[in-house]
Amino acid sequence: MTKTIFVLNGPNLNMLGKREPGIYGGKTLADIEADCRAAGTELGLTIDFRQSNHEGTLVDWLHEAADKAAGVAFNAGAYTHTSVALHDAIRAISPIPVIEVHISNVHAREEFRHTSMIAPAAKGVICGFGPHSYILALQALKSITQ
Ligand code: DQA
Repeated sequence: MTKTIFVLNGPNLNMLGKREPGIYGGKTLADIEADCRAAGTELGLTIDFRQSNHEGTLVDWLHEAADKAAGVAFNAGAYTHTSVALHDAIRAISPIPVIEVHISNVHAREEFRHTSMIAPAAKGVICGFGPHSYILALQALKSITQ
């Protein structure tokens, strides 16, 4: 049986492709989903890919991951920098590993993006590799989950 990995996406990531292409590139979220599914097939992982603009929905999906997923790749978008609720949800589902993912290098951007509420609760952080950040997270989850 293959392991299921949740790939969760937060606010405004549904706008990829149109949204600030100089920062995020030209791929849509559907393109990134297709890339994740292809990587999942290669790695022997089942990918459950979702996006929401609502913080509480993301909390609910993290809780759901505790029962259904071996790990989570999580691009929380702007909630990364603000959400105690997402920090607590990641801690609540321990030991399910959650990897924080960003398309852009948040540390090379505005100061308010340098703080992550998610990182202290996450297993690790991958940022700055464009949409390939998601694939790196899937490879990491494959190697750290049994
Ligand atoms: C992002 C970085 C965040 O700071 C921003 O709010 C996003 C996207 C990224 O993938 O680079 O929405 O998470």
